[in-house]
Amino acid sequence: MTNEVIFSKEQLDEIISDVADKLNARFENQTSIPVFISVLKGAEPFFNDLIKKCHFEMKIDFIQVSSYSGTSSTGVIHLKKDITEDIKGKDVYIVEDIIDTGLTLNYLKQYIQLHYQPRSITIVCLVDKKPLRKVDLTADIVGVTLTQNEFLVGYGFDYNEIGRNYDFIFVPTKKQLETWDKLLNNDK
Ligand code: IMP
Ligand code: MG
Repeated sequence: MTNEVIFSKEQLDEIISDVADKLNARFENQTSIPVFISVLKGAEPFFNDLIKKCHFEMKIDFIQVSSYSGTSSTGVIHLKKDITEDIKGKDVYIVEDIIDTGLTLNYLKQYIQLHYQPRSITIVCLVDKKPLRKVDLTADIVGVTLTQNEFLVGYGFDYNEIGRNYDFIFVPTKKQLETWDKLLNNDK
């Protein structure tokens, strides 16, 4: 069985252009410099493609949290790497790959607000996966919304840290997951 492609490279390009259009419209008459924060590692391909389509001035930064193990969220969030820009009083855009339970972004939003007091926080996410939402969290700008609960790999999404490098998003087959498990096992 072949992997089911959910979003091809071309579809992703269109989705990201739409997100960039919304951001470009917001900053048409730019008066301040926003800080775009990429949530490592999953948001990296999206973040890199998105910022290249943004035609206004921005600063960028990176934050890293983890909550996933295998194909499900553990619900326990760890901050692994903090930002380095001074974002107090700034307009902050958190760029995330996916909202699933919502726990990660909920944590990040609260953490950033509490520790750094930015003027505003806007959430930009590529995929909004609705079925397993545990907290009332909505993104301000969304690429696509998924109503079915599927475990995605590719374009930043990983299965135990592998699969992030594909330029399309797919649902791995059981056979694919077994092959990866073997590889990961050999890699220990
Ligand atoms: P949440 O805290 O449950 O909203 O999960 C957010 C994080 O879990 C995302 O930043 C992803 O890194 C990861 N995640 C959620 N769904 C998937 C998926 O389908 N594939 C791979 N990673 C996922
Ligand atoms: Mg992520």
